[in-house]
Amino acid sequence: MAAAASLTDVTVRRSGKDLLRTVSLEIGEGERWAVLGPNGAGKSTLTRLLAARLHPTSGTVGILDETLGKVDIFELRPLIGLASQELAETIPAEETAENVVVTAGYGVVGRWREEYDAVDLERARTLLAAFGVGDLGERMFGTLSTGERKRVLAARALMTDPELLLLDEPAAGLDLGGRESLVRTLGRLAKDPATPVTVLVTHHVEEIPPGYTHVVLLREGEIVEAGPIEQTLTSQNLTRTFGLPLVVEQRGERFTARSLSLN
Ligand SMILES: Nc1ncnc2c1ncn2[C@@H]1O[C@H](COP(=O)(O)OP(=O)(O)O)[C@@H](O)[C@H]1O
Ligand SMILES: [Mg+2]
Repeated sequence: MAAAASLTDVTVRRSGKDLLRTVSLEIGEGERWAVLGPNGAGKSTLTRLLAARLHPTSGTVGILDETLGKVDIFELRPLIGLASQELAETIPAEETAENVVVTAGYGVVGRWREEYDAVDLERARTLLAAFGVGDLGERMFGTLSTGERKRVLAARALMTDPELLLLDEPAAGLDLGGRESLVRTLGRLAKDPATPVTVLVTHHVEEIPPGYTHVVLLREGEIVEAGPIEQTLTSQNLTRTFGLPLVVEQRGERFTARSLSLN
């Protein structure tokens, strides 16, 4: 089966700096990937490539049987669900949560412009409910808490029934209860075979939902290690990724990491 996404020797260079350097990665059908790495490692750059929002300086990016640079990105983008801070910042504060979700189906962020199909509204409401914010549909996006916004954005990312789901730091800024509840929802999604190939960015191993199958570790624009989660998310690899001595522990399907005594 063709890969859902594949990067071959991809470099992204800006202002003389390599944000990603000779990155090769293959993401297969049905897989759920976590992207881990410190701030500035290139995680969001990788996400923007996979979202067809950025072209590589060199190398090849294949997404859903198409190749960036050879495909009309406006045909490709509806097949990709994206939730990111960058996207959140484009949403007008006065937009209702329900509109934020339903407009994904129309490839826009912005105000209610046309009559939306009843079936689309129903789907938007179902998705909001699935993320535990079913009662906030009428609320203005700008009045929602960080955690509520994250949930609305995740619902929006799934609205178009995408073939590739990209979540860039979906749990950033949430309190413990909010994080655990979101991780549980994302874990349920991960285990549902109907859920598309998913790539989730985080810097905390605690935020990797149950059911995630693979991990890619990034440091300074390069892949430290990538592969099946059990073999790849090791103390040694995480230590190399974050540049300090770390111990990874797994309990059930959840992970924790802490630094070894530094003295
Ligand atoms: N246009 C740009 N010019 C120069 N540096 C950039 C540009 N865009 C991003 N960067 C830098 O590239 C690095 C990687 O960014 P990013 O992919 O957002 O990292 P992450 O999401 O892992 O924190 C960061 O150090 C960031 O400051
Ligand atoms: Mg980032």
